[in-house]
Amino acid sequence: MPMYKMYASLCVAALFGLPAVHALIRENSVGKLPALGWNSWNAYACDINETKIVAAANAIVSLGLKDAGYEYVNIDDCWAVKSGRSNTTGELLPDPVKFPSGISGVADTVHGLGLKLGIYGSAGTETCAGYPAQIGHEMLDASTFASWGIDYFKYDNCYVPANWSDPYIACVPDHWQTDGPFPNGTCPVTNTTAPAGYDWGSSPTAHRYAIMRDALLAQNRTILYSLCEWGDAAVDTWGNSTANSWRMSGDIDPSWSRIAEILNENSFQLNSVNFWGHNDADMLEVGNGDLTLQETRSHFAFWAAMKSPLIIGTDLSVLPTDHVDILKNKYLLAFSQDEVFGGPATPYKWGVNPDWTFNYTNPAEYWSGPSTKGMLVLALNTLNETAVREIKWKEVPGLEKGCDSFQVTDIWSGRDLGCVSGGIRKKVEAHDTIGFLVGKKCEAWGWRS
Ligand SMILES: *[C@@H]1O[C@H](CO)[C@@H](O)[C@H](O)[C@H]1NC(C)=O
Ligand SMILES: *[C@@H]1O[C@H](CO)[C@@H](O)[C@H](O)[C@H]1NC(C)=O
Ligand SMILES: *[C@@H]1O[C@H](CO)[C@@H](O)[C@H](O)[C@H]1NC(C)=O
Ligand SMILES: *[C@@H]1O[C@H](CO)[C@@H](O)[C@H](O)[C@H]1NC(C)=O
Ligand SMILES: *[C@@H]1O[C@H](CO)[C@@H](O)[C@H](O)[C@H]1NC(C)=O
Ligand SMILES: *[C@@H]1O[C@H](CO)[C@@H](O)[C@H](O)[C@H]1NC(C)=O
Ligand SMILES: *[C@@H]1O[C@H](CO)[C@@H](O)[C@H](O)[C@H]1NC(C)=O
Ligand SMILES: *[C@@H]1O[C@H](CO)[C@@H](O)[C@H](O)[C@H]1NC(C)=O
Ligand SMILES: *[C@@H]1O[C@H](CO)[C@@H](O)[C@H](O)[C@H]1NC(C)=O
Repeated sequence: MPMYKMYASLCVAALFGLPAVHALIRENSVGKLPALGWNSWNAYACDINETKIVAAANAIVSLGLKDAGYEYVNIDDCWAVKSGRSNTTGELLPDPVKFPSGISGVADTVHGLGLKLGIYGSAGTETCAGYPAQIGHEMLDASTFASWGIDYFKYDNCYVPANWSDPYIACVPDHWQTDGPFPNGTCPVTNTTAPAGYDWGSSPTAHRYAIMRDALLAQNRTILYSLCEWGDAAVDTWGNSTANSWRMSGDIDPSWSRIAEILNENSFQLNSVNFWGHNDADMLEVGNGDLTLQETRSHFAFWAAMKSPLIIGTDLSVLPTDHVDILKNKYLLAFSQDEVFGGPATPYKWGVNPDWTFNYTNPAEYWSGPSTKGMLVLALNTLNETAVREIKWKEVPGLEKGCDSFQVTDIWSGRDLGCVSGGIRKKVEAHDTIGFLVGKKCEAWGWRS
């Protein structure tokens, strides 16, 4: 029965000749902009159940996060019966103790709140926590997810069988870390470096993720497809034809040092970001670990500016209001969700280090990106102590030349600073970020601070 369904669906896909390259352009613009939502892993890891998922969904509504645009409620690893699939149908089974209403029951509740439900799997024989996974079961599982009412699928990279492993190691920044800094993110050549011209789009890794893409597309349901392949296999060359987003690094953790590392890595990979396809800098750690408010603010600002999916990963019932306010920052969310400008903000000056320096502790500090509301300009202080950061309009790419005064809004206070000449010079606390929307040119004199 599952086999019949599988071949039938493949046939339909073949008959209509779905062009792979357009495959991820979905109904109702699903996947066009970075996904906004919540995921259970950074908050609860394996310790999940439907009470916690439904509580998160309710909090997304009551805290105003839904009104701010957050829509996905994503169940991460550990939701299934660990010992195996149904002996009769081969289907995955929701853990009946953790999810007494089943995943479909949770989906009904979440949909009833006007939100969408996500689920998790792995392109291997087991998920990272050792639960049944998708390889060899892609079509059956995609059909199960669709029948439950799933709207988002996160696909991890654990327990890859040997015959599906890549023959080479791609240029992945995480892999170079132990070897020191590489200018412009260039890779050292080793005996596992792929030969020149190697097509990573036909690598075993790309193939594993494409099989699941086709299985999801064969369903009568729009399911956003989020790859969690840790930046491996030169995903920037095939991610856009495979999925709506793809991880560009290894896992995040709730520390400033890790956030700075990922920011540095992604700053060299932003050419692959535009409508329909986004580098995923991993789920937010807002509210977790011992991040300061300044670090939290910078983390959120840059994840939004890089147009990463913004997936909250904390226990919302105890999240302080100042942190909720960061997640609801209307200027950063508007930049992330801009319908006209699909590209991310990018560095225009590194600051502490010379331009194009690949450096984990002190990534690029000065960034800008266009949006319908104006030019978003950010300045980060990567140092461990307060320091002055100076944004000079003349240096910001894309601002009108010949005129050095602009209408400016502070993205944190929301204050309209009026007509500001020359730029902004300001003391910035350790690991904090100042940010402005720079609008129309105007007439004014003097520096503003
Ligand atoms: C989920 O876990 C919480 C906290 O341990 C507990 O209070 C709740 O009853 C659990 N819900 C289910 C459905 O097991
Ligand atoms: C499937 O059958 C095996 C052997 O009888 C049993 O151990 C296992 O628990 C069954 N799995 C499920 C999900 O019922
Ligand atoms: C790996 O082995 C499995 C099981 O024999 C097979 O179904 C699959 O096609 C193989 N993968 C590749 C890339 O050959
Ligand atoms: C890095 O790349 C940029 C832009 O391609 C180039 O201008 C710069 O010289 C490069 N720097 C190094 C150290 O290779
Ligand atoms: C690659 O080099 C490492 C040592 O640098 C060695 O251990 C390994 O066997 C080599 N692999 C191949 C495929 O030659
Ligand atoms: C697809 O789903 C819609 C609504 O859920 C339903 O009306 C339609 O008949 C389904 N189409 C097929 C081919 O199953
Ligand atoms: C990704 O694909 C979409 C749809 O074809 C396209 O609009 C977008 O520009 C592509 N992204 C990049 C970075 O080329
Ligand atoms: C990163 O940049 C800082 C500031 O310039 C410098 O002190 C540090 O040595 C650099 N790190 C590496 C690994 O080069
Ligand atoms: C900045 O602080 C971190 C964490 O305390 C420390 O590891 C690092 O060495 C400090 N950097 C400098 C340049 O002092």
